[in-house]
Amino acid sequence: MKSVNLSRRRFIAQTSLGALALASAPSWLQAMEGMNKLPPNKASANFHPNVEIDLTCQPSTAAILPGQATRVLRYTAKLVKGPANSVSEIPGSYLGPILRFETGQKIRINLLNLLDEPSITHWHGLHVPAEMDGSPMYAIDKGQRFVYEFEMRNRASMNIYHPHPHGITGRQVYQGLAGAIIVNDEEERRLELPSGEHEIPLVIQDRQFDDQNQLQYAGHMHDRMMGFYGDQILVNGKPNTTLNLASRAYRFRVLNGSTARIYKLAWDDNSPVTVIGTDGGLLEAPINKPYVMLAPGERIDVWADFSGRKVGSQLVMRSLAFSGALPMMGMMGMGGRRGGHGMGMGMHGGMHNRVQQDDTQMGSDYPIFTIKINRQVSDSPSLPKQLSTIKHYSLSDVSNPKQALPIAISESPMAMLLNGRPYAENDLQAFERVPLNSIQLIEIFHSNSGHGMGGMMAIAHPIHLHGQYFQILSRQQTKPSDAYNSVKDGFIEGGWKDTVLVMPGEEVKIIKPFQDFKGLFMYHCHNLEHEDMGMMREFSVE
Ligand code: C2O
Ligand code: CU
Ligand code: CU
Repeated sequence: MKSVNLSRRRFIAQTSLGALALASAPSWLQAMEGMNKLPPNKASANFHPNVEIDLTCQPSTAAILPGQATRVLRYTAKLVKGPANSVSEIPGSYLGPILRFETGQKIRINLLNLLDEPSITHWHGLHVPAEMDGSPMYAIDKGQRFVYEFEMRNRASMNIYHPHPHGITGRQVYQGLAGAIIVNDEEERRLELPSGEHEIPLVIQDRQFDDQNQLQYAGHMHDRMMGFYGDQILVNGKPNTTLNLASRAYRFRVLNGSTARIYKLAWDDNSPVTVIGTDGGLLEAPINKPYVMLAPGERIDVWADFSGRKVGSQLVMRSLAFSGALPMMGMMGMGGRRGGHGMGMGMHGGMHNRVQQDDTQMGSDYPIFTIKINRQVSDSPSLPKQLSTIKHYSLSDVSNPKQALPIAISESPMAMLLNGRPYAENDLQAFERVPLNSIQLIEIFHSNSGHGMGGMMAIAHPIHLHGQYFQILSRQQTKPSDAYNSVKDGFIEGGWKDTVLVMPGEEVKIIKPFQDFKGLFMYHCHNLEHEDMGMMREFSVE
């Protein structure tokens, strides 16, 4: 909190937001209750899968911290048919197993819900028919099954599976329901990138534990508005992650699986982060970044070459200091409320990648994971100069160059909205109807910047669109500031995306195809607390 002076903090604490922080449990908790649920999809006799998986979500426990086991929710998967590497567990983790598919495969997934509440699984990043996309209207109750059948149309990429029931997505993900989907294809295979033990998925999350090692989640309105931030960083479901690696090149598949926390990823020795891919797979060519901003739902594919490093040497991936993602008032109170820790300054002894309590807010500087070089090897693959071919869209490809589809972000203490409306069934607005097989220009912007509370409410939002990946056409900052300067070199623009971080003051133009499938496809903030508050809408492709 170095930058916020005490009198301002006190001022804010005494005003409305301080009071709001005490408001509790409103209707979003029951959001699923009011929804019309459609009958669950059944297997169809004329679909012949290459891969079939039984996927179950259920209550379970996991050993995360020393001592008592933590109650979690967990995906488990059993391969019914298909290549053995289609399902691989992350040993000891509460995370769901990694699902690995091949472009062109026909996939059947039999989801069984054994939770005590509705759920439905969404394939974040995958281009699947609307009925297979895991929309809240398909949520199933305990004991029910939903059969997904789709063909893998994605290029090589890392995607995510996670629940999507309305109003309780954040909590279900927080309690453990998330996993990675890796898609491989020919174009990628030709590059002979590091694979097997040299390709390492890294799912970064933050969690808050009570003194019984149990997960604590957003209890207050304040946590919903600003997003929920845990003080313990977990990588693949474990604290204090150290990877013992050889002195050679690795491929790190990094996924931000946090509900709200944004990371500014960088190596602690100032070597650049070499990025070879983003949400939607490989870039055309590698790029070096001083740091990478990674918001919830986003992925990066990192080439990490430890050749020449000595046995015993260490390298730490950190999240560096930044500001501007939360309003000043959002930062206030985050350390003060929980579990009586107060605004204390203490480092937590031993827990070296615990976010310092006073810096529980985003934007402090803390370690994510450590690399230890434990063996020397002499050969290592070299970084390809050319990675993939991407057809870049321009305004001449879109059907609405003069009239972008809007995604207007509005923030107010009680309502985080897109295009001024909360998520609701049968609430399509005219502009949310998109012609099938069109390519659309979409503009994402803050509709109320500078209004109310002097723009103090402005928050960064990772905006995610279901369906096909999109490209970022432009990113314009209407209010340059030191805060913005602390993040602006961390965006990766040149590849396929499904989630884009929109900072306060930014206007982001994207180009997105709406091909192949009619139906409803969601767009929403991937700050899952915001999503659950209703910061979610749908496009109807028709
Ligand atoms: Cu990652 Cu609509 O979700
Ligand atoms: Cu998604
Ligand atoms: Cu948001």
